[in-house]
Amino acid sequence: MLELIQSLMNTVTTAIKSKQSSNDEKYSNLPEYTLAQVSEHWQTNDCWVVVEDLVYDITEFLDEHPGGQYIVMEHAGRDATLVFRGSRHSQDAYDMLDKYLIGILIENERVYWSRSRSNTNDSNSSSIYGSSPQPSKGL
Ligand code: HEM
Repeated sequence: MLELIQSLMNTVTTAIKSKQSSNDEKYSNLPEYTLAQVSEHWQTNDCWVVVEDLVYDITEFLDEHPGGQYIVMEHAGRDATLVFRGSRHSQDAYDMLDKYLIGILIENERVYWSRSRSNTNDSNSSSIYGSSPQPSKGL
């Protein structure tokens, strides 16, 4: 029984590691942008947003957004992570983001990807959710 559990755990760990390293490959070659650069793209014919440190050009999607384009335009050219999460988007919505991915924030402006993307040997740094900085004391 114990062996079965150990074998299951190994399978899960291997699957997670392989997903993380494919994520690293997927994101490490993306162009880097600053928030200032993102902020130049705030119009209906040129609309970028940041979600979890990744930069998306969602211009083509504005007309298709189920919540309407105006609610999205309020966040055009900005970090929309909290509002995107707060709108309780489905997994489908998260999956749709992929199609519009154009870049990643420069390293010192990242909140969720806080460590170097090249540091793939450190398993703690390879997950989008696993590398957040520790909150300061008192938070
Ligand atoms: C950037 C700011 C965004 C805000 C404030 C926002 C807000 C919302 C809100 C309030 C709804 C609910 C609409 C309703 O129930 O009538 C919604 C639905 C939806 N949004 Fe957004 N949205 C944003 C960006 C995006 C992006 C970038 C995508 C995908 C590329 C997206 C995909 C969807 C989808 C697929 C739905 C339908 C419900 C679901 O499957 O989650 N949204 N959004």
